Amino acid sequence: MVFETNSENDTLAFASRLAPMLAPGDTVLLTGDLGAGKSVLARGIARGMGVTGPMPSPTFTLMVPYEAGGRKLYHYDLYRLSDPDEYYAAGLDEFVGGDGVALVEWPQMAELDVAPALNITLTRGAEDDARRIEIENDGVAGFDPAALSDWRDADGV
Ligand SMILES: Nc1ncnc2c1ncn2[C@@H]1O[C@H](COP(=O)(O)OP(=O)(O)OP(=O)(O)O)[C@@H](O)[C@H]1O
Ligand SMILES: [Mg+2]
Repeated sequence: MVFETNSENDTLAFASRLAPMLAPGDTVLLTGDLGAGKSVLARGIARGMGVTGPMPSPTFTLMVPYEAGGRKLYHYDLYRLSDPDEYYAAGLDEFVGGDGVALVEWPQMAELDVAPALNITLTRGAEDDARRIEIENDGVAGFDPAALSDWRDADGV
């Protein structure tokens, strides 16, 4: 299914609605061009899970772990991975489908094909700040599209 947002704040609000639908072992695969909004969406999910404070980009470290309210979250950005082998050699696979929720930007760099996962594809819309968010659910038990349909109203955006 496809959703549309018209600002960064829209995407943050939308993403925070996804947070309670995710359980340990679930993965969110974020695909889209540079600047599409993958990190914004990841930040919204993290905030929705109760992560506070700065969220440094995982571009160079490849993964940054978080913990909030006893729940674990792993934020990946695999853009700089040289090849899929490096992902496994570095032990990065341990935290995908593991004891927390994993959010993965540029999953194609590790040829990641995991489930349960939400496969999210972000593309730019006609206006500068418009984004199209396509979600395909591959086995995430808590995913509830009905809870997303009214997301604008809930935050008064
Ligand atoms: N509707 C929108 N949703 C999300 N971000 C938006 C939107 N409109 C404008 N933006 C802007 O687009 C940019 C998205 O940047 P972001 O870092 O999230 O991209 P990214 O997909 O993670 O890119 P990268 O591949 O470089 O990591 C931000 O500058 C944000 O303010
Ligand atoms: Mg990013």
